[in-house]
Amino acid sequence: MKIAIVREKSADETRVAATPETVAKMVALGAKVSIEKGAGLKSRILDADYKKAGASIGGTVASTLKGADVVFCVRRPSASSLNGINQGALVLGTMNPSDNQKEFTGLAKTGAALIAMEYMPRISRAQSMDILSSQANLAGYQGVIDGAAQFDRALPMMMTAAGTVHPAKVFVMGAGVAGLQAIATARRLGAVVTATDVRPAAKEQVESLGAKFIAVEDEEFKQAETAAGYAKQMSAGYQKKQAELTASHISKQDIVITTALIPGRPAPKLITKKWLKV
Ligand code: NAI
Repeated sequence: MKIAIVREKSADETRVAATPETVAKMVALGAKVSIEKGAGLKSRILDADYKKAGASIGGTVASTLKGADVVFCVRRPSASSLNGINQGALVLGTMNPSDNQKEFTGLAKTGAALIAMEYMPRISRAQSMDILSSQANLAGYQGVIDGAAQFDRALPMMMTAAGTVHPAKVFVMGAGVAGLQAIATARRLGAVVTATDVRPAAKEQVESLGAKFIAVEDEEFKQAETAAGYAKQMSAGYQKKQAELTASHISKQDIVITTALIPGRPAPKLITKKWLKV
């Protein structure tokens, strides 16, 4: 079996779908692995590292994919980059199938079978393949680190003989995997943390991390979780009440981190420009 790993084409994508460690595992299983030249550079992995792990380096996308049975990528590839791919080859990555139907018409014509890893059932047996949890966890951490870097004061309380700096106030919107990690990270850095979500189950989780839960807790809120544990899209009436509460709360915050998502739909826009003090 030939496995190909392509270089990510989006300028803002620094990840790569395999590391020398995972390549070595694939080679040990008997696969031939081909990596597109420079695929790991933005993750500080050199072609030479992949070679040492047993991979060959393809000079172009076409030569990397030639004869491949399986392709690993981080983001959905374009149809043109899959030109000449084996009929029925499996392409695995984040496919985001709801955002651009036109692209899928082109991708379907390539004859490849795309597997959207974000649709992997979140059951115990599949936990090691749960790309949503692993990436959301890191994103929640990184959101706080980026926020702290932009913020021009300290996050923890600083008491010195010359005076006291009060702790920063961090508000996390959406308390799923990313939001809970953001809460934990901001707390570890000493901030005073509040958080909101539309799922009632999130309240206990937020409080267990030592943050205060802020939400419009009406009848709709009590029914806002699907059987699968995800948020439902909220009514216009709820969104209005949520916006009023959020506007007054945000005006007292130093850092706001937004993580709210609804599977298969655009992320809800929870902040408007006019609420932000310049
Ligand atoms: P997500 O990434 O789909 O959404 C993030 C958060 O945004 C959710 O908590 C959601 O309730 C919230 N949200 C949506 N609309 C909002 C709004 N208008 N205002 C405020 N917040 C809003 O969610 P994620 O992180 O994937 O987790 C969703 C569920 O999946 C949770 O119940 C979690 O416990 C569960 N889960 C289960 C796993 C398993 O292995 N069984 C693994 C990971 C998560």
